[in-house]
Amino acid sequence: MKRALITGVTGQDGRHLSEYLLEQGYQVFGLLRGQHNPKRAIVEREVPDVRILEGDLTDQTSLIGALQGAQPDEVYNLAAMSFVALSWNQPELTGNVTGLGALRMLEAIRNVQGSSVSGHRAAGIKFYQASSSEMFGRAHEVPQSERTLFHPRSPYGVAKVFAHHITINYRESYGMFACCGILFNHGGPRRGPEFVERKISRAVARIKLGLDKGLTLGNMEAKRDWGYAGDYVKAMHLMLQQDQPDDYVVGMGQSHSVREVAEIAFSHVGLDWREHVEISPSLFRPAEVDLLEADPTKARTVLGWVPEVSFEDLVRMMVDADLEKESSRQ
Ligand code: NAP
Ligand code: GDD
Repeated sequence: MKRALITGVTGQDGRHLSEYLLEQGYQVFGLLRGQHNPKRAIVEREVPDVRILEGDLTDQTSLIGALQGAQPDEVYNLAAMSFVALSWNQPELTGNVTGLGALRMLEAIRNVQGSSVSGHRAAGIKFYQASSSEMFGRAHEVPQSERTLFHPRSPYGVAKVFAHHITINYRESYGMFACCGILFNHGGPRRGPEFVERKISRAVARIKLGLDKGLTLGNMEAKRDWGYAGDYVKAMHLMLQQDQPDDYVVGMGQSHSVREVAEIAFSHVGLDWREHVEISPSLFRPAEVDLLEADPTKARTVLGWVPEVSFEDLVRMMVDADLEKESSRQ
């Protein structure tokens, strides 16, 4: 039975990946931070077979302890301060968790494997780093592939570039089986409510049910390449099953504006978004990423990764899930 350790197990991707790996017959361990983390209950309810280990990406001793406890074949580093907008208010924390956190985990792996000699192929633990399309930032070309230059536009993007390059550096320096998945935006019913597509789906449900009147958004012309998280975690797993470690762009290959998300979500319940949405300059970012669109050719051809849920179905799925959640709360 293969063993996996997932950091960020309480997050959207952590729960999807746990579910998927358990289905594949893995024993799954999840890193949980904090003394009274309220999200522990969500993991215990949704993926009860995950074994929780305590630890924090800012504390290397705890990462070594988690590795010793899990004795994993594969480590998926999904933990991060992942909300781009917040990264301008908490840049140092973002650098520490999202950037240096990856380095701490790589060093912890080296420590428990006891291999530190340059050129020596560190056997054993395979490592996945959750890199992000946010690293492309002010994109140098459209669509973006593994060869596109990075130009991050937020402290979060900068921290992810560090984590990305340090992962590649550890692969090249120590022969570690370390892969980066450069994932484009992916959501679903488990998406945090701070991210725009979930903010919209939740508001649409509440407006439809008469619980709210309107929704305030920022830049509705920004474009992203959105897919379904349940599809994307399969690509993470596939990367670690290849003969050689490598980096892959994962996305749908289509971009859509925030306005389109709102149009589809509101019209799904028979409403017109223009009657309910107002724009607030306070929600615009100090530096925006205008257009992200993936070129997922490598993931499709090398990994054989094929997403099943379309952008439109994703938005409708999220609205339906929020309608159910908000109705059952009544
Ligand atoms: P998410 O829902 O925001 O989850 C983030 C996870 O990180 C949570 O489990 C959180 O724990 C954990 N975490 C935060 N700080 C930590 C710390 N100091 N020590 C240990 N754990 C900590 O994010 P997601 O959407 O699942 O994304 C997973 C990863 O993929 C992230 O690295 C994200 O940056 C990256 N990514 C996401 C997307 C996307 O569109 N979803 C696209 C590209 C890349 P708590 O629950 O305790 O806060
Ligand atoms: N969150 C939010 N809230 N975003 C808004 C709003 C709003 O009210 N109004 C407009 N937007 C715009 C943002 O300005 C941005 O251009 C776009 O919607 C998407 O914002 P988010 O949903 O916050 O996601 P993100 O693209 O910044 O970051 C997500 O995707 C990255 C991959 O590209 C996160 O999941 C990151 O962790 C991930 O790396």
